[in-house]
Amino acid sequence: MMPASIKLDNIGCLTTLGSNGVKYIYNTSLLIEKDRIVAIGSGDGEKTIDCKGKLLTPGFVDSHTHPIFVDLRSEEHRLRLSGTTYEEIAENGGGIVSSVESVRTATVDRLYEKSISRIERFIALGTTTIEAKSGYGLDTESELKSLKVIEKISNNHIIDIVPTFMGAHAFPKDFLENKEAFVRLICEEMIPAVHEQGIAEFIDVFCEEGYFSIEQSRKIIEIGKSFGLKPRIHADEFNNFGASTLAGEIGSFSADHLMKIDNNGIKSLKENNVIATLLPGTTFFLNKSAYAPARKLIDSGVTVALATDFNPGSCHIQSMPFIITLAVMNMSMSIEEAFLGATINGAKALGLDSEIGSIEIGKKADIILWDISNLFDIPYYVTDHPIRAVIKNGKIVFGS
Ligand code: NIG
Ligand code: FE
Repeated sequence: MMPASIKLDNIGCLTTLGSNGVKYIYNTSLLIEKDRIVAIGSGDGEKTIDCKGKLLTPGFVDSHTHPIFVDLRSEEHRLRLSGTTYEEIAENGGGIVSSVESVRTATVDRLYEKSISRIERFIALGTTTIEAKSGYGLDTESELKSLKVIEKISNNHIIDIVPTFMGAHAFPKDFLENKEAFVRLICEEMIPAVHEQGIAEFIDVFCEEGYFSIEQSRKIIEIGKSFGLKPRIHADEFNNFGASTLAGEIGSFSADHLMKIDNNGIKSLKENNVIATLLPGTTFFLNKSAYAPARKLIDSGVTVALATDFNPGSCHIQSMPFIITLAVMNMSMSIEEAFLGATINGAKALGLDSEIGSIEIGKKADIILWDISNLFDIPYYVTDHPIRAVIKNGKIVFGS
């Protein structure tokens, strides 16, 4: 039996969101009742955990992942090592569409088994909420199947999953000569079916040269919105053709990637309160030199979130602490900015910041107990993350 209340005692440094950036509370305690944080610095619980004077942070919120696929695509990574680019691999039949066949032929159970095996790893890395996209089915049945798998994982696993419909991830092979017909299929068949089944909260589109144009993306997202789906968008990843401006115009919760965003795009995000979700793992994994301009975005007043973009092709990385490391080493973000990006700003990008993303009374008890004493040591460990335990919804789900 799990105790109804847990006291985390002897916390060296509770690190969370304050009214003006990061707040540190030293030598304190925290009381959890059921799934909620109920007190900081006072109270007794049925069970006490000694935090041994170490660091406590909120769990990470990974607001951009593509975990619903069957096979890995490591051979593409090998090709990139010898100089072939992600774009060239996609032009030659690799990339997103090469993950489609195996998803289409998989049963729900097989897709579920394949996908859930990856979810446990998120928890061990301190991630307590993920957003998960469909997008490797690319026909109505297989997109619905992918969303059903997300729903099933969500019902069976402690991690919180925010489901996103991403039928507009790429054009399947049989529609390459008739892209408008695929856009119609998304708008007239997939979106109404997703709405009817009530299995997605967001809609996302890969707005990029060779993928969905500005006008196609606008149409898909507007129709999605009319069916109650909230918008988010892959924007300005490899080319700039105005996707961030579109993100502002359609009221997107978040514009993601942004390696090629320009000043107009930055202005649009700022004026329309769109979160910039940066994915430095993808830049690193694709061996690209130009990371998204995090410094310029932050200095322009845009809220920056960080996420993994975990997927089989362009970023086989699940670790948010490693994403923090990449952000501070390659994007001139401070450790505090990266920490907020990986917690509260990720929650904002999902519209969940009143529930998760910081340690506050009333919020969900989603917490990481570390083996280090302060936040600034997270990037120092690079890949050997010093995580002692992870608490999700008030339960210890990793470590002790
Ligand atoms: O976010 N950019 C679009 N989609 C993924 C790539 C997925 C894949 O290659 O399978 C991304 O990087
Ligand atoms: Fe992505």
